[in-house]
Amino acid sequence: MQVISINPDRLLTDIRTLGAIGRDEGGRLTRLAATDADRRGRDTFVQWSRAAGLDVRIDSVGNIFAIWAGRNGLDRNPLLIGSHIDTVIDAGVLDGCYGVLAGLEVIRTLRERIAEPARPVIVAAFTNEEGVRFAPDMMGSAVFAGALSAGEALAATGTDGAVLGEELARIGYAGTETPGFFRPEAYLELHIEQGPVLEREAAEIGVVEDLQGISWQRIVITGEANHAGTTPMSMRRDAGHAAARVIGFLHDLARAASPPLVATVGCLGLSPGAINVVPGKATLTVDMRSPDARRLGEGEAALATFLGDLAEAGRFAISTTRLARTEPVRFDARLAKIVEESARDLGLSSRRMTSGAGHDAQMLSAIAPSVMIFVPSIGGISHNPREDTREQDLVSGANVLLRTAERLLQNGVQTSGPEKPPSLP
Ligand code: GLV
Ligand code: MN
Ligand code: MN
Repeated sequence: MQVISINPDRLLTDIRTLGAIGRDEGGRLTRLAATDADRRGRDTFVQWSRAAGLDVRIDSVGNIFAIWAGRNGLDRNPLLIGSHIDTVIDAGVLDGCYGVLAGLEVIRTLRERIAEPARPVIVAAFTNEEGVRFAPDMMGSAVFAGALSAGEALAATGTDGAVLGEELARIGYAGTETPGFFRPEAYLELHIEQGPVLEREAAEIGVVEDLQGISWQRIVITGEANHAGTTPMSMRRDAGHAAARVIGFLHDLARAASPPLVATVGCLGLSPGAINVVPGKATLTVDMRSPDARRLGEGEAALATFLGDLAEAGRFAISTTRLARTEPVRFDARLAKIVEESARDLGLSSRRMTSGAGHDAQMLSAIAPSVMIFVPSIGGISHNPREDTREQDLVSGANVLLRTAERLLQNGVQTSGPEKPPSLP
């Protein structure tokens, strides 16, 4: 068996170049969806894709598809590789970008090494995976997979009051393709782990079998603003204290949970926000996740009960808005096995694992056999500028993606169970 490699310098240079786009004066990287910084990142990816000889198409929610048509164009269902290039606030350079740029590098390498394949190979950069500016997250892939309508996505209002559809038009990425304009034969997503497991266990590759369900809510607690000096403690309706109790409740709930549950309050705003005023209003977000669907539902129910009791005891008005909700996902077992075998072909150690983060793959898995490949994150740090992965691991992950794609193109996308004979490529 002849094992081929991607061009490490080309991939690492691309990662660094894209990672320099969207930095502020202090050097912080923030490329929120459909901002000017996102446009510059998108333009760069499109330019590289065209330079690689790919046909670039954009759908109405701004998803970008760089297409190597192969011998039959879209008459054959493509092999799709993808991820995202939008970022969180003060981000690292790898989250999402690694998967998109490695996908492009895999296509460049295949074009140099093998004959035109029978089916197209496409690399996608999905719109607004992070969900920081517009909720829900995984928005572009959700529309592509039919889980969310394009109209709903385009009408989403951002944390800054902007409307996604208007912003996409403004930055030149309101495309003309209908979302879902092709059906992938299979979907592959390479990503950094963003957690500590691979590093701790000294495994080079993570074969991702499943991904936890995610629940996002916004909670608004209304009490009464009042004088911080004159209002007796027993007479306050302090929305700030109520928010603190919610944070404490969620922390304890998740710490004690089995099967596991994680819970985070990532945004907290107190109003009117003055040192000498008892807060009259608190707004907070809740991100709750579990690989166990029942546990996640129980967590949501426990929070609802707690909020009801809190409202009654403290004379608060409490409202909740659901921002995003996905069930846990199991990836395709046949594809997981092919990834594992591909790692073995390259002499790399691997382990099966669950994804703690949300990914476009969880949306794509509803319409196509899908799998994810992880590489170790140094110190398990992500959504942080210190997010990093050893260059050697970045190259190994891209080579596992390459080998997996090569196998699928050579042998057919054999995904529907061990008993099914291989289909023709
Ligand atoms: C995406 O990065 C998420 O898991 O929130
Ligand atoms: Mn990501
Ligand atoms: Mn992320």
